[in-house]
Amino acid sequence: MKPVALVALLLSSAFAVEYLVGVGKDETTGKKGIGFDPSVIHPIAGDTVVFEFRGGAHSAVQTTFETPCVPLDGGGFNSGVFNVDTSLPVDAPGLPSVQITINDTNPIWIFDQAGGQCQQGGVLAINPTQTQTPAQYKENAAKSPVAPLTKDAAPSATASGSGAPAEASGSANDNKSNGASGLRMSIGGVGLAGVVMALVAGSV
Ligand SMILES: *[C@@H]1O[C@H](CO)[C@@H](O)[C@H](O)[C@H]1NC(C)=O
Ligand SMILES: *[C@@H]1O[C@H](CO)[C@@H](O)[C@H](O)[C@H]1NC(C)=O
Repeated sequence: MKPVALVALLLSSAFAVEYLVGVGKDETTGKKGIGFDPSVIHPIAGDTVVFEFRGGAHSAVQTTFETPCVPLDGGGFNSGVFNVDTSLPVDAPGLPSVQITINDTNPIWIFDQAGGQCQQGGVLAINPTQTQTPAQYKENAAKSPVAPLTKDAAPSATASGSGAPAEASGSANDNKSNGASGLRMSIGGVGLAGVVMALVAGSV
């Protein structure tokens, strides 16, 4: 492997960011509610998105920009349905979670099918674009037909993650996604590629 490729690889794993997304958590109030917290994220290849399920029945299911309340035709990501004790506080430790790895920066559209409030805003935009904006995605959701939650969609943990109460990634003070975006921000306008180039230049 060329040194440049090696440096890039090492850096990309060193800088891999974990995005913690609360499902069934209202991002404006911070309380249990409709949708995802946060509802818009911009991960890059190598980053992970951890869906953490709040009280009630929720699922994270891949969909399309045009018809957000219908699962992606022919599959796509489906976390399965999680039924979490509704008496648990919103950021209780040990909430069940499912993780996906991001391979590129193409948009990924997600909705909370089991939550049943897709049209009311139960949607998540991963890497929206200039033309496919989060606002338009929400508008599309409001007008979208709603697919019934079939038995097929219901079994837990079709995803790569663990179905059971998983790795305790969610104590209230453990704001990983926050720290992570702070890290990303500290790199600032230079961007990761710029950092790689600078390091490579410095090392030869
Ligand atoms: C990324 O690639 C892996 C391995 O091919 C795959 O399992 C995973 O589903 C992909 N992630 C997404 C978000 O498509
Ligand atoms: C993490 O930070 C975000 C943004 O400030 C906030 O909305 C969210 O509630 C925080 N999560 C936890 C677990 O503190």
